[in-house]
Formats: sequence, C-alpha cells, structure tokens
Amino acid sequence: METVRILDRSFRLYLSEAEIQQRVREVAAQISRDLEGKNPLLLGVLNGAFVFAADLVRAVTIPAEISFIKVASYEGTSSTGTVSNLIGLNESLEGRTVVIVEDIIDSGLSMTHLVEAVKAMNPADVRICSLLVKPGNLKVELDVPYCCFRIPNDFIVGYGLDYDRYGRGLRDIYVVTEDGH
Ligand code: IMP
Ligand code: MG
Repeated sequence: METVRILDRSFRLYLSEAEIQQRVREVAAQISRDLEGKNPLLLGVLNGAFVFAADLVRAVTIPAEISFIKVASYEGTSSTGTVSNLIGLNESLEGRTVVIVEDIIDSGLSMTHLVEAVKAMNPADVRICSLLVKPGNLKVELDVPYCCFRIPNDFIVGYGLDYDRYGRGLRDIYVVTEDGH
C-alpha cells in the first residue's frame, strides 16, 4: 500500500516492512554483541513499542528477558515537574542490565522521566533502544545507543505507532502527507 487513510488524514509509505526488519536485525545484533553475558532485561514501553519489542526480542541472539510497562505521568512536587510511575513492573531491577525499548523519541521528555524512574530502582546499567528518533525535536540531551532510524519532524504512523489510537497494526511505517488530506 503506497498510501493509507486514517480518520481525517492521509499518509504515504515511508519505511517498508523489509527496511524495518533489516534495521531491527542490525540493532538486535548490536545489542547481542554489547550485552553478551549480561542477561539483559528488555523493557518495552506500552502501547507503542509492542510490535518493535516483539520483533527485537526474537532477533536478539543472547539470553534476554522481556517485560512491558506502562507509564503514567503526573505533575509531581519534585523540582523536575513531571514524575513517571511505572505500571506493570513485577520484577526487581536491582543489579540488572535494563534496555528500555521505545517506539519513538520526539522531545525526549518522556524518555528522560522514564530513565529517571528506572534508575531509581537500582539497575546496574540502563540503555535506551528506540525504533525512531526525531533529532530535530529533542529538547534534552539523550544517549540512544540503539536506534533503528533517525527521521525528520514529521508525524508518522504504523508498526505499533498510532494516529489517535488507529494505525498501530500497519506492517510498514507511513508519514502524514503535506496537506494532510
Ligand atoms: P516525547 O516525550 O516528546 O519524546 O514523546 C514521545 C511520545 O510521543 C511517543 O511515545 C509517542 O507516543 C508520541 N509521538 C511522538 N511523535 C510521534 C509520531 O510521529 N507518531 C506517533 N506518535 C508520536
Ligand atoms: Mg510511546
């Protein structure tokens, strides 16, 4: 499919399933090399990362665990403003090598809060893995050692990412068309 329509918007093909799968395999190989012997815990961030995390864990060639979390953000009283609560995490992160698996990093603020919340649980190491990064929108400095694609600031959908809750099941990634209609 070259173009798809979701709700009131049109999207055109941006990254094909084959291109995505290729990059996921490469990043999985990188993780497998770097974290051999570390028994990493891949921590997928719901909802958006569910497709990416499923492909990534099947492409990693070292022993690894996978778990999923949801993030509930609220305005806290800390000096940083927003506090992230991790929902659904049953295992201890103490001493673990944790790889946070995200769909997309835009401003980077969600990820910054998430890393903070994960670090508070005393892991040995926390690394970020994101399918997509929009470097042009980053408002904070973030080290993303595992990134499949760096993309412009356009709105994209598919492969787990949604437009107003739709489009997550698309096998390819699509970008909104310029006029949007
Ligand atoms: P950040 O805190 O600005 O980095 O927000 C990242 C979150 O915004 C992601 O987890 C997505 O839920 C959402 N997001 C950012 N850009 C897009 C996009 O192009 N398509 C779909 N969701 C996006
Ligand atoms: Mg997300």
